[in-house]
Amino acid sequence: MSPHFEAIADGLAEHGYAVIDQFLSQQEVGAILELEELRNTANMKRAGIGNSQSLQVQEGIRGDYINWLDRETSPQPVKVYLTRLDELIAFLNQSLYLSLKDYEAHFTKYPPGTFYKRHLDQFKYDDHRRLSVICYLNPEWKEEEGGALRMYLLDKTLDVLPEAGRLVCFRSDIIEHEVLPATRERLSITGWMLDRLAALKHL
Ligand code: OGA
Ligand code: MN
Repeated sequence: MSPHFEAIADGLAEHGYAVIDQFLSQQEVGAILELEELRNTANMKRAGIGNSQSLQVQEGIRGDYINWLDRETSPQPVKVYLTRLDELIAFLNQSLYLSLKDYEAHFTKYPPGTFYKRHLDQFKYDDHRRLSVICYLNPEWKEEEGGALRMYLLDKTLDVLPEAGRLVCFRSDIIEHEVLPATRERLSITGWMLDRLAALKHL
């Protein structure tokens, strides 16, 4: 079991979010970054807004490219991360009495200058996303490169830089957030823990 699970549960219970460094080690991040087929924009698609019934790409709202990931067919370095998500689900169900059933996750690339405007992750017609979970893959990210995740909390905003190995987990139903533009490519694996089994639509 990852030594970080307890801190994630505590953060969620107390504040509705948690930021954890070294959730993936630098070696584990490095192995994912070596997967050229994952990073190649030609294999990715422009992310949309809303669920599959109302999918539309809106340049002015978000500019990222995504690649949906699947437990069975993902390359080994990605499986290492996805397995840890399954373990985290089991831990959170026990410690916080949640009834998380599954996750959905995609590899994400924001080209320089792109962003994702302020939003909530729960869809209007599909509110099965309970927790948003993002793991960043960008070694030695500098503050002046921009690209922070900005979370809108009750009494403040919190900016989190997308540093390699860092995990951010937050309640999808209440925490509004945005991705600020960066001067450099910004990579992550973005996922959601669901209260039902993931649909097959993405696979
Ligand atoms: C998202 C999102 C945040 C980030 O994909 O819905 O808000 O930091 N991502 O990448
Ligand atoms: Mn989001």
